[in-house]
Amino acid sequence: MTSAPATPADHVTVRVPAKVNVQLAVGPPRPDGFHDLANVFLAVGLYDEVTATRAGGLELTCSGPDASLVPLDGSNLAARAAVRLAAHHNLRPDVRLHISKDIPVAGGMAGGSADAAGALLACDALWGTATPREELLAICAELGSDVPFPLVGGAALGEGRGERLTPLPVGGAFHWVFATADGGLSTPAVYREFDRLTGGRAPEPAPSAELLAALDAGDATALAAALSNDLQPAALSLRPSLRETLDAGTGAGALAALVSGSGPTCAFLAADADAAELIAKALAASGTCRTARVAASPARGAEVLP
Ligand code: C5P
Repeated sequence: MTSAPATPADHVTVRVPAKVNVQLAVGPPRPDGFHDLANVFLAVGLYDEVTATRAGGLELTCSGPDASLVPLDGSNLAARAAVRLAAHHNLRPDVRLHISKDIPVAGGMAGGSADAAGALLACDALWGTATPREELLAICAELGSDVPFPLVGGAALGEGRGERLTPLPVGGAFHWVFATADGGLSTPAVYREFDRLTGGRAPEPAPSAELLAALDAGDATALAAALSNDLQPAALSLRPSLRETLDAGTGAGALAALVSGSGPTCAFLAADADAAELIAKALAASGTCRTARVAASPARGAEVLP
């Protein structure tokens, strides 16, 4: 095992987006415990930044309002990404990673997955390893079902357990409000509740033609009518108070409301940017959420900042 080859930069910062699932169709449990999905990811303009700096070993720090909720040990997906990339190139994972966190933690917006994708790209640039895109995506898929998407950004259909991506065309901007909740929801627990509610007999998942057409057309009204999340009943079953959050957003004029991924963040689609600001203010005043943030989509995938 060798040290990483020298490159001119002593640190690299990557910006990486959150996601919302505009369709999350979930099948029955597979023999490996995962579920086949038709998972339509849309990247949204809430970002974490991951900075990789030369160091004598692997170190991890985090800043931001939710930093205290982020594990800083070897279980952190960003640290695991650095270790995995180093092993791929027979290098030591000598890097200090700093996550500047703005994506809600354990919120169903794939913030931990975004940090892993960001760490991979940042380490690859810092170490000068020039890993081909296909190999980076394969490492992402090993790290977690949601990790490949933030590398790609835009919109994509995720099949298999969500890791097999096909990019999708998006014809315009969509404006969202995200209402965060106190405390996360465990993704495995939400899938278990989904299995309990469906008796393990959910139909095979398939992408919605109406939804793909609405994305392609950039038509917010059509997208609102087609949004769906099969995990929402399970998230609501585990956290019934989310119903009040969803109702507060639709009462404030959202075109549609849904739980984001496995929750507990709730996503509201607005007609335009001004409507999103009004819905966010109403949600913040409603007492049904911790924070309400506006964000536009689609957003670009992970990229090295100049
Ligand atoms: O792939 P990832 O590590 O993000 O998955 C976290 C957990 O979510 C899995 O352990 C599994 O319980 C559940 N999951 C699933 N089916 C998927 C994706 C995730 O059951 N397609």
